[in-house]
Amino acid sequence: MKTAIISINPKKPGKKALGLAVATIRKGGLVAFPTETVYGLGADALNGKAVRKIFQAKGRASDNPLIVHISSEKGLPRLVSRIPESARKLMKKFWPGPLTIIFPRSDIVPDAVTAGLDTVAIRMPSGKIARELVRIARTPIAAPSANISGRPSPTKGRHVIEDLDGKVDVIIDGGPCEIGLESTVIDITGKFPLVLRPGRVSLAKIREVLPSARAYSGGSERKPRSPGMKYRHYSPKAKVVLVTGSPSERRRKMELFVRKGRGPIAVIASFGVKEADHFFKFGNLSDLAASLFSKYREFDSLGARTIIVEGCARRGLGVALMNRIEKSAGKVY
Ligand code: TXA
Ligand code: MG
Repeated sequence: MKTAIISINPKKPGKKALGLAVATIRKGGLVAFPTETVYGLGADALNGKAVRKIFQAKGRASDNPLIVHISSEKGLPRLVSRIPESARKLMKKFWPGPLTIIFPRSDIVPDAVTAGLDTVAIRMPSGKIARELVRIARTPIAAPSANISGRPSPTKGRHVIEDLDGKVDVIIDGGPCEIGLESTVIDITGKFPLVLRPGRVSLAKIREVLPSARAYSGGSERKPRSPGMKYRHYSPKAKVVLVTGSPSERRRKMELFVRKGRGPIAVIASFGVKEADHFFKFGNLSDLAASLFSKYREFDSLGARTIIVEGCARRGLGVALMNRIEKSAGKVY
């Protein structure tokens, strides 16, 4: 398949610039597009046949459901059977933005989207290209992250091209994604609001409107709540090593592993390490989130065998970061 690659200004995505992408969605094709979190691979969420192509292109397991993107709250009622009060509070505070809410589904949502579950994940992105694409296409868009399954989520147009050129109809390059980590996923259909996947919207922020919300810790249930959580994720080809502990312990472990580890060695840390072959020094945690997946891909292309990542405190954005780094890491020290 010949993929059309179009560059669009993320600040003013005009109707004309989005024309081909809109037409492609409307006739059941696949379009990769940027959001404020990561790039998504989209299809018309009400067209089961179109949605099934997403799974093929990504090599995604069919039991892993997709997030449906809407452009305004008017698009919500027909997709769900009920809008609980807790959801209204979340929508008011966090939409548009990086929060996905799990609702009881309606009948018009194809099984391909929900992987047969009786719930559906919905999000209203704040990224302009994503919102405009959904609005002008006049249909909700189902979209997982636009990477080959298991690879780090794409945060730049070039990452999508790397993974999906020749496998999808259109790739929109709208520059780097602002946040760099996937949305927070919260399930409000059970007894307590449960955060299934941590993200930029922290549990502390959610508790300001839903005090009973808690983090899902896996464990006792036989079936994972969020099917995606059981798969290996976010992995570069290099082996990822995560170093944890107090700042001085992290520094000590980092220096030890850089000397001992299998090279070429790349380091992602908040301090300098002289002996590393490749290096990314981050400022704050937002900076790390925006760059993590991109640096994984970059260090792979430079031929690194080991990527050593400095962990952070599990507070605020640190919870989401540690979740992603742990999932990609072979070893945690
Ligand atoms: O930021 C994001 O959320 C990006 C952009 C493109 O919007 N999308 C994204 O999609 O990260 P994906 O497919 O890579 O991750 C969706 C997660 C998976 O872990 C999936 O299992 C879970 O959401 N999910 C989807 N529908 C669900 C449902 N009905 N119940 C529980 N979990 C669900
Ligand atoms: Mg994904």
